[in-house]
Amino acid sequence: MWRNVETAPADSILGLTEAFKNDTNPEKVNLGVGVYKDEGGKTPVLQCVKAAEKILLEKEETKSYLPITGDPLYASEVQKLLFGEDSEVVSTGRAVTAHAPGGTGALRVGAELLKKFNPDAKVWISSPTWANHKGVFSAAGFELAEYSYYDAATKSLDFDGMVESLNKVPAGDIVLLHTCCHNPSGVDLNEAQWKNIAEIGKERGWIPFLDFAYQGFGESVESDRCGVVAFAATGVDFFVASSFSKNFGLYNERTGAITVVAPNAEDGAVAMSHLKTSVRVIYSNPPAHGGLVVATILADAELKKQWLQELSGMCDRIKEMRSALVDGLASRGVEGDFSYITSQRGMFSFSGLSDDVVKWLRDNRSIYVVGGGRINLAGLTRANIDYVCDSIAEALKG
Ligand SMILES: Cc1ncc(COP(=O)(O)O)c(C=O)c1O
Repeated sequence: MWRNVETAPADSILGLTEAFKNDTNPEKVNLGVGVYKDEGGKTPVLQCVKAAEKILLEKEETKSYLPITGDPLYASEVQKLLFGEDSEVVSTGRAVTAHAPGGTGALRVGAELLKKFNPDAKVWISSPTWANHKGVFSAAGFELAEYSYYDAATKSLDFDGMVESLNKVPAGDIVLLHTCCHNPSGVDLNEAQWKNIAEIGKERGWIPFLDFAYQGFGESVESDRCGVVAFAATGVDFFVASSFSKNFGLYNERTGAITVVAPNAEDGAVAMSHLKTSVRVIYSNPPAHGGLVVATILADAELKKQWLQELSGMCDRIKEMRSALVDGLASRGVEGDFSYITSQRGMFSFSGLSDDVVKWLRDNRSIYVVGGGRINLAGLTRANIDYVCDSIAEALKG
C-alpha cells in the first residue's frame, strides 16, 4: 500500500522539538514549540490542577461515557470565563458550548459545522497565522484567503490594512481571528479596534470565528476577552474555539471547547443539535479528565483564585523575559530598536531574526527558533538569557 507513497513532511514546529531532544549540547535552548516553561525550564503541573485532581480522584465513581458535548458544569463554567459572569450571552442561553479535544479539536468541530451549512464559504486567515489554521480548515474542505494583519516594517499591527481587507470579505465567508496573544506575532488589537472590527463584521455579514488559545496570557482573563465581548455586543452569529492547554497547563489532556453564539436561544438550540451530530461522527464524546479538572477549579472560589494567581505568575515571568531580552541585546551593543518585543503579548514574538540567523543559532549554539524568527519567550530563563543574548549578538554582528 505504501510503496509508491511519498513520506509526508514532518510538522515544522514539532519536528524542531524532535531535533532539540536529539541535540547533545548541554547549553541547548528551545525557543520553538509554544509550551510554557518555568524558571527551571520545566512545564509544570499547576498546583490548582493537582488540588482539583485530588478531589476528582476521591469523588470518581465511574468512567462511563460523558454526554456528547461533555460535562454540563464544564460548559457553563467555560461560558462564564468566556463572556463574564453577568453577560447576557450566558443568561439568555444564546450560546451553546461543547467540550472539544483541545483548541485544535474545537477549531475542527467548528469547521465541520460551518462546512455543513456554508459549503461554498472561504475562510480568511490573518497574514501570518498559526500554521495549523491552514491545515485544519483545508482538511475540512475550505478554500483559504488572507487578510492583512502584521506590518513587518513597523513590527506592529497593520490595522488600516486589516480594516481594508475585512471590508472586502463577502457575506457568508468566515473570518478567523486570534482573540489575544496572536500566534506567531504577539501583536494584538486593543478594545476600540475590536469594536471597530466587530462592527465591520456585522455590517458585511461575514461569520467571525474567534480562536481563544491564550486567555489570561495577555493581561488578564477579563481584558483578554474584549474581542469576544465586542462580537457578543453586535448580536451576530459567531464561533469561539477555546483552549485550556496553556492557561491551565493541560496540554496533554486535550481540553478545549467550541462555543457557538446565536442571536437567540432557539437558534442556539438548533446549532447545538448539529454540533452534537458533528461530534458524534468524529470522536463520539470527549475525554473526561481535563474538562472535569477545569470545571472543578472554576466552580470553586478558592481554587479559581489560586488558578488566577498561578496564571498571572506565568504571564509575569514571560513579561520579565521580554524585558531581559531587550535589555540584554541593548547592553551588548546590538544595533536596532528591539523595544517592540516588550509591547508584544503572550508567549510569542516575531523577533525579526532572519532565517540565516535562525539557522546559525541552531547550527552553532543549539538555540532552536522557528523559521521566520518566531521566538517562544517562555523558553528563556534567568539561567540561559545571557547565553541567548550573547549568541544573538554574535550572530547579528557577524
Ligand atoms: C493560535 C492557536 N490556536 C489553537 C491552538 C491549539 O491548542 P491545543 O493545543 O489546545 O489544541 C494553539 C496552540 O498552539 C494556538 O497557538
